[in-house]
Amino acid sequence: MKFLLELGAGLAAAALGIGAYQSTPAPTPAPKTIWDSVYSKEQAKRGEDLYAKDCLACHGEELEGRQQIPTLVGDIFLQKWDGQSLDMLFEKMQTTMPATHPGGLERAQNADILAYILSQNNLPAGSADLTSDHDQLLKIQFTAKK
Ligand code: HEC
Repeated sequence: MKFLLELGAGLAAAALGIGAYQSTPAPTPAPKTIWDSVYSKEQAKRGEDLYAKDCLACHGEELEGRQQIPTLVGDIFLQKWDGQSLDMLFEKMQTTMPATHPGGLERAQNADILAYILSQNNLPAGSADLTSDHDQLLKIQFTAKK
């Protein structure tokens, strides 16, 4: 009888143990950032062509900007978007650029141009293209530093 009671208690403890294990949330993975190879070289190349056609006249050959037109490279640019989601920058492009005909480009085209902008900021390329999906872009953090 004593043995059965002990067995019962043991099983209950085991059940509790399992319950506790299952309710422990999985460790949150470190958030993805623009340093995690989020675009491909081929995509940046496509973006370069689109940039030349629709953006270069204002933002410049080296993406340097001029007067009222902001630069899209370097510390000033990186600091400006630091801590935002990459989606913020993407939607800014999607809804307000090119300034001559805002919203004139497809989302896939803006993803290509954004890949080009990232490449010109010396961020690493990877094997997959940058997404143009709003929810996926929200999960990529823009951080000035790795
Ligand atoms: C007619 C000139 C013009 C053209 C063409 C143009 N832009 Fe702009 N862009 C501006 C001006 C002016 C601003 C600043 C005002 C603003 O932020 O809305 C700006 C701002 C931006 C910003 C925000 C930069 C920051 O850090 O604040 C991004 C990104 C951008 N442009 C990307 C693009 C892309 C990509 C294209 C091509 C698809 C493009 N622009 C075409 C004039 C232009």
